[in-house]
Amino acid sequence: MSNYNIKHFEEYFQIYRKSVRDPELFWEEIAEEHFVWRKRWDKVLSWDFSKPEVKWFEGAKLNITENCIDRHLRTKGDKTAILFEPNDPNSPAEHITYKKLHERVCKMSNVLRDQGVQKGDRVCIYLPMIPELAIATLACARIGAIHSVVFAGFSSTALATRINDSDCKIVITSDGSYRGNKTIDLKGIVDEALEQCNGVETTLVVNRIGSDIAMKDGRDKWLQPLLDQAIPHFEPEIMDAEDPLFILYTSGSTGKPKGMVHSTAGYMVYAAYTFKNIFNYKEQDVYWCTADIGWITGHSYIVYGPLANGATTVMFEGVPSYPDFGRFWEIVEKHKVTQLYTAPTAIRALAKENIEFVENHDLSSLRVLGTVGEPINEEAWHWYNDNVGKKKSPIVDTWWQTETGGIMISPIPFCTPTKPTYATLPFPGIQPALMDENGEEIKGNQVDGRLCIKFPWPSIARTIWGDHQRYKDTYFSAFKDMYFTGDGALRDEVGYYRITGRVDDVIIVSGHNLGTAPIEDAINEHQAVAESAIVGFPHDIKGNALYGYVILKETGESRDQDNLRKEINQIITEHIGPIAKLDKIQFVSGLPKTRSGKIMRRILRKIAGKDTDNLGDTSTLLNPEVVQEIMDNVL
Ligand code: WT7
Repeated sequence: MSNYNIKHFEEYFQIYRKSVRDPELFWEEIAEEHFVWRKRWDKVLSWDFSKPEVKWFEGAKLNITENCIDRHLRTKGDKTAILFEPNDPNSPAEHITYKKLHERVCKMSNVLRDQGVQKGDRVCIYLPMIPELAIATLACARIGAIHSVVFAGFSSTALATRINDSDCKIVITSDGSYRGNKTIDLKGIVDEALEQCNGVETTLVVNRIGSDIAMKDGRDKWLQPLLDQAIPHFEPEIMDAEDPLFILYTSGSTGKPKGMVHSTAGYMVYAAYTFKNIFNYKEQDVYWCTADIGWITGHSYIVYGPLANGATTVMFEGVPSYPDFGRFWEIVEKHKVTQLYTAPTAIRALAKENIEFVENHDLSSLRVLGTVGEPINEEAWHWYNDNVGKKKSPIVDTWWQTETGGIMISPIPFCTPTKPTYATLPFPGIQPALMDENGEEIKGNQVDGRLCIKFPWPSIARTIWGDHQRYKDTYFSAFKDMYFTGDGALRDEVGYYRITGRVDDVIIVSGHNLGTAPIEDAINEHQAVAESAIVGFPHDIKGNALYGYVILKETGESRDQDNLRKEINQIITEHIGPIAKLDKIQFVSGLPKTRSGKIMRRILRKIAGKDTDNLGDTSTLLNPEVVQEIMDNVL
């Protein structure tokens, strides 16, 4: 029995038990058999959640791109590594073979080195979903620079905050991007951001849309001419197992984004192993994850996980609605996609459209369907199962987080019987626990609580960039010696997990993780605003949408409220990005607060969700009169 390839449900249990009984031996066997190392590790694991400190494969030397590219060259150099499907359905798809990928990553590595990027330097990548995004990411890994990919939907302010937080010296971007029938001026956003970033010496610009943009002398350089002169070889930098591979920002309960730091060896091993099993990956497959590489899903399951397995991974530049709502299904048919990994919000949006969009396409190539990012509701699950999978393709509802680096709880297709809305069972090596409010573990089945993880796994984030204390406070302080996820979950009668949603100040909108604090900070910048509170409320397509309660400095009946709403959303767009815009904004005279001054969001959530029959315990409320006022005027 090989740990690496889980074939039956019985085998899953055996492997799972082994992974708990002897985690070191378990992970050592996987690391040994399936990766190339320049030097073997001295110690598999050392950890202490109270510091917190976790180290995997200490002493080992490797380069992740050697594992993702070079080692495949001999046996599958001509196999497609990245299959690029452009925004425009009439432009040809691009098949980048492993050989070609190697060449392009090496050239990019040489360009970065020539621009002075050294091992350990931070590189910000702000690109649309084009091959250069994956190539630049891999080139950073090859030269040992730490990549910080920022989703190209973030605003200039959000970009600047991220560039400055990790002190990036170089930004890789493009002149613009295509999004359906629109183009977006990415370089303009970068220019604006860089007005606030003194540390950036160079920007490298991909020519994607051929627009006429301003290039700042000495700073901005077109990438292509540099690539044309670069040589297609680059000896990978030899990295320590625990060297940081990348920083990826996620929002949290303060205004400042958290730069989650992932390290090299453990991340690689875990991303590769989960990819192989959770997507039932086979050599001839064409695997497609619809996420953006700007999120962790794209890092682990478009780039590193698939490539470490020598897979063909699809990169899609466009949107599900362009040129029409049949685009996803057209792509599945055209490239004979075998695994489709997407988000519940996309499924719900597509399910609303005419079913002919689906039925007009041959989806028989599909073998496994995946979902990620938020709880999937029963209706969406069945629609996906019936219409896309034709009841033949198991759905893997994969629960994980930016911080976990890889999938933590998920069915293994053709092994684990699925159950709608349940992420089911922990992956080998993952030891979940449900905790009660008193910090005690809730044992047994048919229980619910706060979801924690008891034992380290290889791809756990090692710290928050520049703020280890915050890392400790956020994840390791709520429950002693446990990693706290921020999610609530229940465990059913057979031990299956269902994630019920966030129990902190994070709201998942269309699968995007949004902290309430950064949005409130942005709103409060408006000169007319005194205070604000954001909550989520149920939304058909987005899962949750945002509801803002705003107190104005002057109660101006005279002010045009609709105009104010527009201005508030404009400020949010500038500070964070359009994904954080509010669906509803209610102007209020006060916010329900506890005697200690904390906003009682629980009440605001119930009001926004029109679920006010039972407001729960309001005895600590300082100003009950305001609750009535808010309820009377709810939108
Ligand atoms: C939060 C993490 C991991 C990649 C995308 C999101 C929610 C994620 C599921 C799922 C229910 C889910 C959780 C989690 N979440 N997957 N299958 N079922 N909830 O990464 O932005 O770091 O967000 O997304 O609330 O904590 P992220």
